[in-house]
Amino acid sequence: MVRIMIVEPKVRGFICATAHPVGCRENVKRQIEYMKKLGSCDGPKKVLVIGASTGYGLASRIAAAYCTGAATIGVMFEKESNGRRTATPGYYNTKAFEEFAHADGLYAKSINGDAFSKEIKDQVIDLIRSDLGSVDMVVYSLAAPRRTTADGTTYQSVLKTTSSDFTNKSWNLKDNTVGEATITPATEEETLATVKVMGGEDWIDWMNALSDAGVLADGAITLAYSYIGPKLTYPVYFNGTIGMAKKHLQESAAIINQTLADQHVKAYISVNKALVTQASAAIPIVPLYFAILYKVMKEKGLHEGCIEQIGRLFHEKLFSGNAPVLDEEGRIRLDDWELREDIQKEVMEIWDKINTDNVKELADIDGYWDDFYHMFGFRFPNVDYSQDVEI
Ligand code: NAI
Repeated sequence: MVRIMIVEPKVRGFICATAHPVGCRENVKRQIEYMKKLGSCDGPKKVLVIGASTGYGLASRIAAAYCTGAATIGVMFEKESNGRRTATPGYYNTKAFEEFAHADGLYAKSINGDAFSKEIKDQVIDLIRSDLGSVDMVVYSLAAPRRTTADGTTYQSVLKTTSSDFTNKSWNLKDNTVGEATITPATEEETLATVKVMGGEDWIDWMNALSDAGVLADGAITLAYSYIGPKLTYPVYFNGTIGMAKKHLQESAAIINQTLADQHVKAYISVNKALVTQASAAIPIVPLYFAILYKVMKEKGLHEGCIEQIGRLFHEKLFSGNAPVLDEEGRIRLDDWELREDIQKEVMEIWDKINTDNVKELADIDGYWDDFYHMFGFRFPNVDYSQDVEI
């Protein structure tokens, strides 16, 4: 059913219940234009992106297509419009990406479904086999709230500490006040469930499935994204349940490297910068840190969004020389600017004095909300939101 209507943002807490198709297209178009301007680099030509419709995964897909000219297959879990509600932003983003890619003569196909399932893995393998033969790069960029494993068990990820209560300043997104939030400790079961969802088990499953099916090219590379952040957020992130999952992701890179060594497959973790995405907006305490970080990094001319981060990943970290640029633990560091001493010093000084009265002055509240609305296709000055659109 074709439904035409005016689409307005419906924001509830950290989520927006609507998405604007034309605005989402604009968002994708801008990212493609950025990547085109950055120019081409030598890299993989057949790329599978798992979690390709928003955030870091979408930026990765755009980079693969427009930096190295790769054919891309994207996997995502997005909702189509049911005729009354709009589709999710990732649905519109994917549609727009495919249109742009096709117009530019690039192969792009997408599979919408649960990447954790065997069914979707099989569909992707069939598609690679029939259309591309093999893939030489796999980006694993899932951010999911739950995962159902092959035996039918559903695991739910939680954002909690792994020790005691953690109380700190928190910005209430509903009314822009700064108060306090307390994050409670997870049970052992909750921590294990979070590792099941956001750890590397499914990444390993994907790589083994691709290899067993003979659709993984010799010497292929695979990447998954992680976050470390400042000591301030360690209790909720690095040492929290999500941090445990990220440690598992890191260990999984080593397992993939071992298991697929005779195929010369190389697995990397890229530690990325804190950015507003649908996944990260849900973490308490963290958004206030983000808004302060944005302010400080913008003032120093060092602010990057997903597309700038992934542009730098391709051009400066992965494909700039004979080997990727890694830290002493073998990780790619795109959080190098975020964690710079001068940046963190300023962020912490602001953190100590920020309150409801000065939050607008000391943190980049507008920048945060712009990014937030842009994710759902809103607040682009060249989009006419008073017009009816087909949802
Ligand atoms: P996002 O929410 O923008 O993207 C998640 C993607 O996963 C979407 O394409 C979504 O459709 C897909 N997805 C979710 N569940 C799925 C399922 N069951 N089957 C298939 N696809 C599914 O998230 P974001 O922030 O881009 O996160 C991607 C990765 O980057 C995550 O591992 C995250 O931890 C990591 N990261 C994020 C940072 C941030 O500040 N946003 C910082 C550093 C790392």
